Amino acid sequence: MNSSKFLKALNLQSNTTPPVWFMRQAGRYLPEYQEIRKNYTNFLDMCKQPETCAELALQPIDRYGLDASILFSDILTIPDAFNLGLAFHEGEGPKFSNPISSAEDINHLDAFDVNTLDYVFKAVEETKKLLPKDLPLIGFCGSPWTLAAYSIEGGGSKDFYKTKSFMKHHPAELQKFLEILSNACYEYLRQQVLSGVNAIQIFDSWADLLSETDLEIYSLQYSKMLTQLLKTDPVTSNIPIILFEKAPNKKIIDFAYEDLSCISLHWQEDILTISNELSGRFAIQGNLNPKVLLETDQSIYEEVKKICTIMKEYPGYIFNLGHGITPDIDPEKVKIMIDAIRE
Ligand code: CP3
Repeated sequence: MNSSKFLKALNLQSNTTPPVWFMRQAGRYLPEYQEIRKNYTNFLDMCKQPETCAELALQPIDRYGLDASILFSDILTIPDAFNLGLAFHEGEGPKFSNPISSAEDINHLDAFDVNTLDYVFKAVEETKKLLPKDLPLIGFCGSPWTLAAYSIEGGGSKDFYKTKSFMKHHPAELQKFLEILSNACYEYLRQQVLSGVNAIQIFDSWADLLSETDLEIYSLQYSKMLTQLLKTDPVTSNIPIILFEKAPNKKIIDFAYEDLSCISLHWQEDILTISNELSGRFAIQGNLNPKVLLETDQSIYEEVKKICTIMKEYPGYIFNLGHGITPDIDPEKVKIMIDAIRE
């Protein structure tokens, strides 16, 4: 594992070419994924099959020879463990049949039992069995804020109106819920580490719903609670943590905190400015706009080159997209991107 370019970068060591992996690398843009996916109506049922998850996690590794793999699962397994009735129906995003709709619901939440997520830990073990020895596996969870937003909204949404209204009318209960979720995320990640993951990424995919002040109060405060729990536990204290904030309304230099090894940059961030500000303190991951992969080979090459030139001397740079790859991307374009990075 010491020879892993990805883990070296997380420890702020340089590589001759940057390690590369990308968010949602196992997913709907791959025909081999679709081939397995068609056997399941509800995506969550597929996530509950550890051997299938392992096979899916390996697909992008086999196709592209990436420098890190990511556990095949979803961030919404935790709300599902609170019995909020999660399902992913054909052609729709996630939907909760039993969302958090009142302050009372938070007082009556079921206690979190990490063992109900045993299928995830088995998926980690199965994936480790299939991966080459020196290829790291990234475990993950959603940030407490992002999980709360889905749990209250009852699914995805354009404006997250219910969540914002809940925040306005029941701030104390929301904070109680965030604390419960922080503890659940900690237990969940701890168990992923015991099962074999080598690094952790926290996805704050709905950070952009919050104002600068609220981002601190409702999101970062709880991600910090989570990372502090991880850093004070001997099981997890040495595991590098990556934080992805989607388009936060606060400058990264103003919130990057010491428990983190790496900041994953959304595609809207200016990687040049941020790399100057963070240099020597945090590894950086990112941040090609996934939509570039819809353009010509030449444009892809140029956009990759731009980022790689800026980050050439940066100790601890990991190439990634600035958000998840989308189903409309041609897998051949991904190959163009990877060849360009390694050139
Ligand atoms: O390679 C990988 O990254 C696979 C593992 C993975 C999935 N989801 C599988 C998945 C990871 C790391 C995630 C994270 C995730 N899930 C996030 C954070 C990253 C981000 O995009 O911001 C979020 C917000 C979710 C919640 C979620 N899961 C939504 C909104 C949806 C439906 C829409 C969509 O983006 O696909 C999912 C479903 C999902 N999760 C799929 C996959 C492969 C597609 C399901 C299908 O085939 O029907």
